[in-house]
Amino acid sequence: MRVLGIETSCDETGVALYDSERGLLGDALYSQVKMHAEYGGVVPELASRDHVRKLVPLIREVMAEADLALSDLDAVAYTAGPGLIGALMVGASTGRALALSLGVPAVAVHHMEGHLLAPMLEEKPPAFPFVALLVSGGHTQLVQVEGIGRYSLLGESLDDAAGEAFDKAAKMLGLDYPGGPLVAKLAQQGQRDRFTFPRPMTDRPGLDFSFSGLKTFTLNTVNAQRSQQGEIDSQTLSDIAAAFEDAVVDTLAIKCRRALQQTGYKQLVIAGGVSANARLREKLEATVAKERAQLFYARPRFCTDNGAMIAYAGTQRLLAGQASDLTILARPRWPMDTLPPL
Ligand code: KG4
Ligand code: ZN
Repeated sequence: MRVLGIETSCDETGVALYDSERGLLGDALYSQVKMHAEYGGVVPELASRDHVRKLVPLIREVMAEADLALSDLDAVAYTAGPGLIGALMVGASTGRALALSLGVPAVAVHHMEGHLLAPMLEEKPPAFPFVALLVSGGHTQLVQVEGIGRYSLLGESLDDAAGEAFDKAAKMLGLDYPGGPLVAKLAQQGQRDRFTFPRPMTDRPGLDFSFSGLKTFTLNTVNAQRSQQGEIDSQTLSDIAAAFEDAVVDTLAIKCRRALQQTGYKQLVIAGGVSANARLREKLEATVAKERAQLFYARPRFCTDNGAMIAYAGTQRLLAGQASDLTILARPRWPMDTLPPL
């Protein structure tokens, strides 16, 4: 089965073609980050308009890369949520209309299920059941995964998502949007023990997170340095970035270890934009080793938003006979544990 995947939930236009027998046949991505960087964050209306401009050319590009015609498609999978409503509508209406015109089924895909399954596209995929840490710009969740659509939420952030915290810390350090990768880069030069940041909610039982306090702590640290030295020197900025990154990474690792212990599972999957973070991967490799467990993640390109994860997730649901109806489905909010099991 050949499935075209369309992702337009936020600021990346992603298109990919997945073949259930042969794997990924094509994959194209256009990132709007440069456009939004000027405003320090995603401007929803600009995002929608840019998806309109880029989506059809990207579909053509992917079909050309695979040397196939639209008539060779067996189905279309599009991201139906969660995300920005206008941005979602572009992918949903294009995907649904394309499928209708070709006389093939369309499937509405949950963006976070796409992230969660992205590591399945790698050479050594995880096998069910596993614990998943979903860490993106909008979500921080620990999920017990027994199979596709069999998700139990173990814990989640009560306020900011991990990626959001990275983006806000970046702003305080004078970095562009999206700040996660830039904070990580700056932290590489940092002296990791100069500042000690808290590890929120690790001193009590449970698997929930809270990152908004870290944001305040970062701001206070930056302000204290500014009042001491005026313009903050670059080494100090790196040191703050390193302390912040370590606080987020440690906090995530502590909760992941608890989730492995609580479920007794021996596989940990990390997915979403923040799972591209090298320090997090390194720390979690050490964490899973202590639990005699294994760590799985996607290549960096498939950690952040992309069409391949949507094509893959859609294919699994279509193979199980779960096509969507003719509705153009776009849901800004959509709890993942309401999805049907395969
Ligand atoms: O999954 P994603 O592309 O979009 C959402 O679904 O939100 O995640 C984007 C988030 C942003 O907050 C970005 O700063 C963060 O992932 N991110 C990172 C890294 N790469 C992306 N955060 C920390 N370290 C990174 N290397
Ligand atoms: Zn995402």
